[in-house]
Amino acid sequence: MTENIAAFEAIEWTAAGLRLLDQRRLPGEEVYLDLGDAAAVAVAIRDMVVRGAPAIGITAAYGVVLSVQQHLEQSPADWRMRVNRDIELLAAARPTAVNLVWALERMRKCLAAAGDEPVRELLEEAARLHREDISANRRMGVHGANLINKGDSVLTYCNAGSLATGGYGTALGVIRSAWDAGKLEKVFACETRPWLQGARLTAWELVRDDIPVTLITDNSAAFLMQGKQLQWVITGADRVAANGDVINKIGTYQLAVACRYHGVKMMVAAPLSTLDMAMPCGQQVTIEERPAAEVLSLAGHAVAAAGAAAWNPAFDVTPAALVDSLVTEEGVISAPDREKLGEFVGALGLAG
Ligand code: MRU
Repeated sequence: MTENIAAFEAIEWTAAGLRLLDQRRLPGEEVYLDLGDAAAVAVAIRDMVVRGAPAIGITAAYGVVLSVQQHLEQSPADWRMRVNRDIELLAAARPTAVNLVWALERMRKCLAAAGDEPVRELLEEAARLHREDISANRRMGVHGANLINKGDSVLTYCNAGSLATGGYGTALGVIRSAWDAGKLEKVFACETRPWLQGARLTAWELVRDDIPVTLITDNSAAFLMQGKQLQWVITGADRVAANGDVINKIGTYQLAVACRYHGVKMMVAAPLSTLDMAMPCGQQVTIEERPAAEVLSLAGHAVAAAGAAAWNPAFDVTPAALVDSLVTEEGVISAPDREKLGEFVGALGLAG
C-alpha cells in the first residue's frame, strides 16, 4: 500500500509558524522554510516554493492564520482590516488556480464569524481544509482507478501528487490507487518544461513509493501513443469551468489533442474545490504568464541564444470535448459538458 502521505509533510503547521518543503530544490535537496507572516507566504506561492492548485489554497489558508496572529498582536484596533488586506495579497499571488480564492473565501467567512479566539478558530478551519483535501484525494483515487483496466499503461503530466495537494494527490492519487490494485503495466511521466515538475517532483514521489516510473521528454508523448503503448493520460486541473473546459499546466491541451487522434483516453482528476461554476468557459480564465527567463534558462544556466525572446504561459485550456472522464471525490462525469456538470453539482446541492 502506498502510504506516501506519512513520508513527508510538504505543508505543515508548527510552533514556529508555517513550514513548507521548498519544491524548487527537489529532488536534489530536502529543505524546509519556516514562514512567519502572510507576505512571506504570498512570495512563496508566487516563487513556486509551493505549487499545485490545492496546495497553494491550503498554504494560503495557513497564511491567513499567520496574518491573524501578527495583526491581533501588533494592531489590536484594526487587525481585521489588516487581515483582509493580507487575504487580497495572498489571492493575487497566482491568478489561475481557483483553489486559491476558494480556500481564502472559506477563511474569510471563518474570520467574519470568529469569536473570542480567532487564531484558534482560523487554525482549525485551515487544518480542516487540509484534512478534507487529503480525504477527497483518497476518494478520487478509488473512482479514477475503477476506470482503469488491468494491464493499462498511463502517462501523467506536471505534478498532481502529494506535493501539489494536501497529500496523496489527484492524478497521482488515481495512479497510486490503480497501482495498489495491481492494474498498471507502466507509468510514464512527462518532464514538463519549463519547471520540470514531472522530472523533479512526480518522479521523486513515485520513486519514493516504489512505483516504477519512466520519464519522457514532453515532445515524446504523441510518439508513445502512436506506438500503442498507452491507454490513459491522467492529469490534475487548476480550474474546471462550468462548461467542463479544463485549465491545467501548459501542454495539457496538446496531450489531449494527441489523445483523441490516437484513441487514448484523457482523464482529469480534480476535487470539487477546483470546479468554478461561476466561470462560463475556459477562454475567460486569466492564464498566468511567467518570466521569459524560465524558458531561456534551465537550472539557472542560459540555454537559449542570447537575444532570443520567449513566451511563457503557465497554463492552457483543454476544451471539455477532449476530456473523457472528469473524476471528483463525489464520482465521475463521463464526457463532461455544461449540462452534465450543472446536474452533478445540483445533485450535490452546490449549484451556483
Ligand atoms: O505551475 P504549477 O506547478 O502550480 O502547476 C500545477 C498544475 O498544473 C497541476 O496539474 C494542477 O495544479 C493540479 S495539482 C493537483
